[in-house]
Amino acid sequence: MRWSDVELDRAQELLDSGYSYAAAADVLNDEFSTERSYHSVRGAVRNGRIILNNRNRDATVRHTVRNSELTHEDKKAETRHFDWKEWSDEIKKIQKLKSSSDFSQQVATASIKSDKPIIIQFLGDLHFGSEGADYKVLEEVTKRIQEVENLYVVLLGDVVDNFFNGFRSATAVFGQIMSPEEQVYFVESWLKDIEPKLIAATWGNHDAWYELGGHGYNPIKVIQAKHCPYFDGIGRIFLSVNDIKYKMCVSHFFKGHSQWNPVHSMIRFSALQGGGDNSGLADIYAQGHIHEPALHQQYMHGEIRTYLRCGSLKNDDGYAKRYFSPWKIKIDFPSVVLFNESKHVVPFLTGEDALMSLACLDVK
Ligand SMILES: [Fe+2]
Ligand SMILES: [Fe+2]
Repeated sequence: MRWSDVELDRAQELLDSGYSYAAAADVLNDEFSTERSYHSVRGAVRNGRIILNNRNRDATVRHTVRNSELTHEDKKAETRHFDWKEWSDEIKKIQKLKSSSDFSQQVATASIKSDKPIIIQFLGDLHFGSEGADYKVLEEVTKRIQEVENLYVVLLGDVVDNFFNGFRSATAVFGQIMSPEEQVYFVESWLKDIEPKLIAATWGNHDAWYELGGHGYNPIKVIQAKHCPYFDGIGRIFLSVNDIKYKMCVSHFFKGHSQWNPVHSMIRFSALQGGGDNSGLADIYAQGHIHEPALHQQYMHGEIRTYLRCGSLKNDDGYAKRYFSPWKIKIDFPSVVLFNESKHVVPFLTGEDALMSLACLDVK
């Protein structure tokens, strides 16, 4: 079938706009009542009767082939959106929510009105649940807390023994006199009895072992935080006795333990980090964890600083007997007397000594 000039022009137009040979043949047959085929159109191109202008025709044709076309209408990659600033704005909102739901704080401010000096009794490493803890001493100390009007308490962590399933020593797990669950109830019940005297409480590594359970929940933290300000790390206490300001810095322990100087880690911390108001030093530093009581005073930055380390209610401890000391030492919890009319801190290695001294002064 011969090509007319009009037909050739139309074929060229169709092919240039991307029609395939077959599709162009269909259109030509409709418009010119012919019976052209794919081969007929391709032949006209090959013998030079149709000269194509579209250099990229092959690519265009691939998208216009009839009955073989896949079109995506909702490909997510073409509509997705990610803007770091939008995410940052939302994260800040969540951080605010998390912060407001947290039980822990870093600074606690409290005041005590008193017509006589007060005693701050530090209590650390009670290890409730341990078979080796002395529950008779616990009862005596609790009675003293309840009965001595001007005596207040700061807890320094490890209130429970909390050896759990999976701990490296099965002897430690099975050697507990209370299960971890019963230890939680014990803490809750005991805190109710001393709550009016509680100034603050810190974290303890045994208490925090609950966080190793996989979900991070620590019931000891929550229970203590409901009774007094709770520090899940190093805490600062700004305590006013009448109008006299005393600054304390407390934690279960401070980094940099020395085998030879029992308060080295606290002196190091005070020198490097302060621990009082802003970057200043505190008057008193106190920690637990090592289970052997110690006290120390020295001038630093022109003022007397006091450093205290608590003993433990657990004085029959197989671990300590193996690795630290063959001696079963007396259970002592250091304390400080804070004077109420002028700033003065007097430390004692035991709570009893503080009481006896005040009795001698006839202020108890
Ligand atoms: Fe401890
Ligand atoms: Fe500890």
